[in-house]
Amino acid sequence: MNKVRISETVLRDANQSLIATRMPFSDFEGILETMDKAGYHSLECWGGATFDSCLRYLSEDPWERLRKIKDKVKNTPLQMLLRGQNILGYRHYPDDVVRMFVARSVDNGMDIFRIFDALNDFRNIRVAVDEVLKRNAHAQGAICYTTSPVHTLDNYAKLAKELEEMGVHSICIKDMAGICGPQEAYDIVKALKETVKVPVYFHTHGTTGLGPITYFKAIEAGCDGIDCAISSFSNGTSQPPTETMNYALKQAGYETGLDDSILKQINDHFKPIKEKYVKLGQMDPFVMGVETDALVYQVPGGMLSNLIAQLKAQNALDRLDEVLEETPRVREDLGYPPLVTPMSQMVGVQAVLNVLAGERYKSVAKEVKAYLRGEYGKAPGKIKPELIEQILGDEEPITTRFADTLEPQFEKTKEELKGVARSDEDVLSYIAFPQIAEKFFKEREEREYITVSYSIVKK
Ligand code: CO
Repeated sequence: MNKVRISETVLRDANQSLIATRMPFSDFEGILETMDKAGYHSLECWGGATFDSCLRYLSEDPWERLRKIKDKVKNTPLQMLLRGQNILGYRHYPDDVVRMFVARSVDNGMDIFRIFDALNDFRNIRVAVDEVLKRNAHAQGAICYTTSPVHTLDNYAKLAKELEEMGVHSICIKDMAGICGPQEAYDIVKALKETVKVPVYFHTHGTTGLGPITYFKAIEAGCDGIDCAISSFSNGTSQPPTETMNYALKQAGYETGLDDSILKQINDHFKPIKEKYVKLGQMDPFVMGVETDALVYQVPGGMLSNLIAQLKAQNALDRLDEVLEETPRVREDLGYPPLVTPMSQMVGVQAVLNVLAGERYKSVAKEVKAYLRGEYGKAPGKIKPELIEQILGDEEPITTRFADTLEPQFEKTKEELKGVARSDEDVLSYIAFPQIAEKFFKEREEREYITVSYSIVKK
């Protein structure tokens, strides 16, 4: 019987996509031991925006969260999303920081690292992959899925080969926008399975409603595993539902290893939590539904809501259609980057600027300039030469790996944080998000002071 491995995303991607990663540890602490028994391939529970959100909004130490999860989840591998050289932030970090981050993540309990680069420029994931391999953890290389004249099946197969040669244990096709149709998924998985020996996983979102059909066809083409979210936190901008996929796959003769009665217990736990977020207004009905505009504009759901927010803030929501028409043109000018963080923000901001200024590239976002200078890596296609000339003038873009130009940062920062940072993990939190980490350290200190004073009074 063919085995299909299912990863559960409720703690990370579903949490991030539906409620902007605002779920505190206390909301899922009580169900972790049950989740460990469900038979999941892995629990995606860390990385992406969870790190930032823990420090910024939840007053939680992300490292402590990881250790606490590991404490309760003893058998199921824990999985995280890592943006290669960007780690979890939006700029490139020096290699020593990337290596230290991976090493500490393994020490604190991480098992599977899904590593990607927004441009599929694998020079930007090589160091992270290398460190994961050195630490004997599972390195999964991810390929961002997008459509463009340069993103052909041959190109995807070539990327997969490159990842395999790098030594990854598995490969994931990452369809962050949920725009990959069933036939496209079938073709790409088939092309990859014919090219590489390592397992191939597929990741999509329910945004456009294609998700479950796309997964099914991917599996028919030999896909080894998929990402799902427990039903109360599924669909919309999140993943297709775990129970539904499990039901359909078992019926078709696939083995998933999942226990139906445990899945029900997990869903029963998360149902009232979802209701709480809906009541609090933290779960926008917009993210729960199906948004087929993404198919028309090939723009991820999250990017669409960002564009709407940007235009609303400038009292220009009536220009949305123009911006949506400008978006693919900007993307073409920039050499067809996949619309994933940070490229989705960059393309979106520039499209808004182009429309509102009434003249294209009259004003240029700082990040777009950095991109044109080659600071994010190599564009998948060709950047419009006139644009480079207009914006950079005589300045030559770099063609080497940007991180090669960065000085080591870890030891220096550790020295600077003497007396403030209590661990290497603290230093890494600070490097990733300096102001937010500083505020967090201060709050932690105050919290502990209050707790100590309270216990003295009680005595
Ligand atoms: Co995702």
